[in-house]
Amino acid sequence: MQNQPPVPAGRSGHSKLLRCIAVVLLTLIVLVGLAVLIIWLSVRPRRLVYTVEDGSIRNFNLNNNHLNASFDFVIRSYNPNSKVSVFYDSIEVSTLYEDKTVAYKVVDPFFQSHRNVTRLELKLAAQYVALVGSTARDLRLEKSTGDIELTVLLKAKIRFKLGTWKSKHRTLRVWCSPVLVHLSGYKKFERTYCDPEL
Ligand SMILES: *[C@@H]1O[C@H](CO)[C@@H](O)[C@H](O)[C@H]1NC(C)=O
Ligand SMILES: *[C@@H]1O[C@H](CO)[C@@H](O)[C@H](O)[C@H]1NC(C)=O
Repeated sequence: MQNQPPVPAGRSGHSKLLRCIAVVLLTLIVLVGLAVLIIWLSVRPRRLVYTVEDGSIRNFNLNNNHLNASFDFVIRSYNPNSKVSVFYDSIEVSTLYEDKTVAYKVVDPFFQSHRNVTRLELKLAAQYVALVGSTARDLRLEKSTGDIELTVLLKAKIRFKLGTWKSKHRTLRVWCSPVLVHLSGYKKFERTYCDPEL
């Protein structure tokens, strides 16, 4: 017959202590969760809103599958939050035709306070951009109909600001597509709503 290991003397004391620690930890977790919930409810971060308000093309020239053109866009950026502001630390805007970037521009950084609307007036130039044959053919065809379907992509490094707290950098991608640009002045530009991805 083997000897039973002796029951440790302080066992019941230990488990009491453990239970106590568990209760304290659980309470802490619940309190932190409540605090986060309250902060979230009072701040209630809302999605940033972007629209293309105007778009036009000037100096369009497509020769030997090379494109020269000036694209003008007005992008409206709206921060609907009542407490959260946004730092736009770097912004690049590009114009794509059939997934091919034809024009590109770096925009000056800016700070957007809460409930602010900022209009970005952008002039992007395509300078002797080489297109593959099928893309050039499609573009020539669309040009002849008077409407060209483009995509505007805004890529930004942003930080959020709430009171004195600032978030880490995050990459924001804003897709505006299709942006239908009319070559003749007869048709009015229709506002395009963009899809922001954070
Ligand atoms: C938004 O912020 C910009 C830059 O600070 C400012 O020029 C503009 O007037 C503001 N717009 C509104 C609607 O407050
Ligand atoms: C397009 O732009 C390039 C460089 O800006 C220029 O050398 C070329 O002549 C232009 N081509 C046409 C067809 O306008």
